[in-house]
Amino acid sequence: MKIIDNIKELKEEIKNLKGTIGLVPTMGALHNGHLSLIKKAVSENDNVVVSVFVNPIQFGANEDLDKYPRSLENDAKLCDEQGVKIVFAPKISEMYSDEKNNLTLICPPYEVVDKLCGKSRPGHFDGVCSVVAKLFNLTKANRAYFGQKDAQQLFIVQKMVRDLNFDIEIVPCPIVRESDNLALSSRNQYLTQNDRALALNISKALFNIKKLFLQGIKDTRALVDVSLKIMEGLDVEYIEFVDKNTFNFQTEADRNTIVLIAARVPESNTRLIDNINLWDEM
Ligand code: PAJ
Repeated sequence: MKIIDNIKELKEEIKNLKGTIGLVPTMGALHNGHLSLIKKAVSENDNVVVSVFVNPIQFGANEDLDKYPRSLENDAKLCDEQGVKIVFAPKISEMYSDEKNNLTLICPPYEVVDKLCGKSRPGHFDGVCSVVAKLFNLTKANRAYFGQKDAQQLFIVQKMVRDLNFDIEIVPCPIVRESDNLALSSRNQYLTQNDRALALNISKALFNIKKLFLQGIKDTRALVDVSLKIMEGLDVEYIEFVDKNTFNFQTEADRNTIVLIAARVPESNTRLIDNINLWDEM
């Protein structure tokens, strides 16, 4: 396995690869959620490239860019164990020659970004799409793997690929959870013991919604009300029901619904996101 930190070398290595290329874009601090994407990519492609890059242009001014966990050595070891061919871990200056406001960016439309995570993180998805597009171009990947954990991100990247005719297949991967259902996240490292206990109520609320839906309750207002009770003590930023095909909000849940939650836990002030779909079996 090669660890590459510059674009020139990456391009040379990519040129020499034979067969299909699978890309797993990450910001590092790899956990079992990332590893599930990497394993799937390794099983479906001749070569796998994992990018490890804490992308500054997707962070807002008051967000956690500086304290975001970084552990390249361990990340590289995990990738090596899975049979990854290349870990691409560039410095910021290698990826961006200028400040964000002076770069050519890919900006998804208002309709898909002015809601959910995009609402509280203006410019976030411009940063995500721009870096993802660069990684697609640099790696010439045939497939790229994205987690359903970041459902809005996945939807927006799929839309970008359709709208701009990228020659790449986006492969969605299911959410990986701890045994108590907490969704794995690099940001879970920030949680105090109390925070972690409270954070569990996010997945609890989501699984409860699915249970109630399967019992016949479809009115989203009623489902939100019980969920907010379960999540008391958390600062809930949003709890929304969207149609998986359009990401339009719904007032009645159905078999195409994704329920999404973003909430902050009080002690570490960590912002967590999670979601559940209403079509898979429980
Ligand atoms: P990051 O948060 O590191 O996540 C990388 C990929 O891992 C994303 O596709 C995310 O959805 C997936 N992932 C994270 N936790 C997961 C879990 N518990 N189960 C399944 N998949 C999970 O998302 C990003 O980085 C960045 O925005 C990026 C796409 C790399 C662009 O900078």
